[in-house]
Amino acid sequence: MQFIATVNALTEVSADCLVVSVAAEGELSLQAQQVDQATGGLINQIISQGDFSGKFGQSLLLPVVPSLQAPRLLLLGTGKAAELTEGKFRTLVKGLINEVKKTKVESLALSLDDIPVGKRGAAWKARLLAENTETASYVFDQMKSKAAEATSLTKISVVCTNDQAQSEATQALLVGQATGQGANFARTLGNLPPNICTPIYLAEQAEALVTDCAEMSLTVLDETEMAALGMNSLLAVAKGSVQAPRLIAIQYQGAEADAQPHVLVGKGVTFDSGGISLKPGEGMDEMKFDMCGAASVMGTMQMLKALKPKINVVGVVAAVENMPAGNATKPGDIVTTMSGKTVEILNTDAEGRLVLCDALTYIGRYNPASVVDIATLTGACIIALGHHTNALLANNDELAQELLAAGLYADDRAWQMPLWQEYQQQLDSNFADMGNIGGRPAGTITAACFLSRFTEDYRWAHLDIAGTAWHSGKEKGATGRPVPLLTQYLLAKAGQDTSFQL
Ligand code: BES
Ligand code: MN
Ligand code: ZN
Repeated sequence: MQFIATVNALTEVSADCLVVSVAAEGELSLQAQQVDQATGGLINQIISQGDFSGKFGQSLLLPVVPSLQAPRLLLLGTGKAAELTEGKFRTLVKGLINEVKKTKVESLALSLDDIPVGKRGAAWKARLLAENTETASYVFDQMKSKAAEATSLTKISVVCTNDQAQSEATQALLVGQATGQGANFARTLGNLPPNICTPIYLAEQAEALVTDCAEMSLTVLDETEMAALGMNSLLAVAKGSVQAPRLIAIQYQGAEADAQPHVLVGKGVTFDSGGISLKPGEGMDEMKFDMCGAASVMGTMQMLKALKPKINVVGVVAAVENMPAGNATKPGDIVTTMSGKTVEILNTDAEGRLVLCDALTYIGRYNPASVVDIATLTGACIIALGHHTNALLANNDELAQELLAAGLYADDRAWQMPLWQEYQQQLDSNFADMGNIGGRPAGTITAACFLSRFTEDYRWAHLDIAGTAWHSGKEKGATGRPVPLLTQYLLAKAGQDTSFQL
């Protein structure tokens, strides 16, 4: 998709289709009035006939309109102005793109000035327009014998009133597009079947990502190298699988070499059968999505490659498959982690933390400015928070606040849970330094408590994305979350985010 910002009057802009928003109450916006006048009162006539009310999400395509540079006009209902939230704006964009997909329209032009979203400015709207256009245009047809039919839409013009607005919108469209494409890359990795998307496949994708990017380099560790480092906890998960594990580190250097990097660590369990603590059969296919944390790291790295912000970032993917086998790790087995701490593996299905703890020890070598791990870690997270928000736990409140703010801005929200010391005792073991499970109460918190024992040396936050990383049911598929949150977090850190302020 091509996005451009232009300075023009809506009535003068040439495109296949002009989009004009109409609110559910009050007068027509300035832009709508201009179009109304240019077309001899068409919009007012349609409204007074009762054919369009401006109800949220309503759309009406007029395939032939007089006196405009665009042959078609699409009226888009934005509902009551006071009720248009960030989330509803996203829904509006997705709805618009899905509507346009059904037509032969190749280019759209619209003004964002007449769609008020709380206190959000033009740059915010341009950014979310581009991001959601990319994600709404996504199709996963790689595994179908016939490719999906290509859609006609290839170009969107955002019409601005002055040069300043145009340059802000131009930058925001680039950010939004890179965010959407990063999320789509993450979705594809998530959607690919587990017989294709294996740890080695993820390493190959990382290789492809760093090729032709001068700012990026790659480190991939195999079993022998991980064993030499003492990553026995990660290797204990991989043991029962014929798929070899990989620890993948993508280094992005956008700032001076000595600037401390921000490190992202993704859980990359390419299939989680539960291991010997085998999961029930129903819905087990969805455990191919257990690498969505890793996918979000790769999607975010792809965004960095596109935008090249002045910041250093290391994206780490801990990739393993969790399977039952004669040689698989058993409940009761005790392993020594890379940190030297010992773990009694009481449940082989609590494998994410076993993989992450060694990766979190490993990344200490980068002397990180901050560390964020992203993991589909606990079913308990879905019970606690459902599917709308990421769970956030952190050992540093400033970092937590930054991530919460980034999530709000990017409309990829997180909600903080307590990481209080009182919960730590649920991990007590009679035989090792700790067990890998903390019982039924507060499963998301005790999983984070486990990780916190390996992150004492740096500012660290954990995002549990078990509820947000994919949709089940008819719309089954990876969402690409939390690429938008991570993008905003890093761009704000790079100080290059012109649109961060309200
Ligand atoms: N990958 C799962 C968590 C999960 C389950 C995410 C369902 C999304 C949907 C994780 O490895 C797991 O199995 N966790 C266990 C932990 C338990 C054994 C302490 C769980 O949540 O049941
Ligand atoms: Mn599991
Ligand atoms: Zn898992």
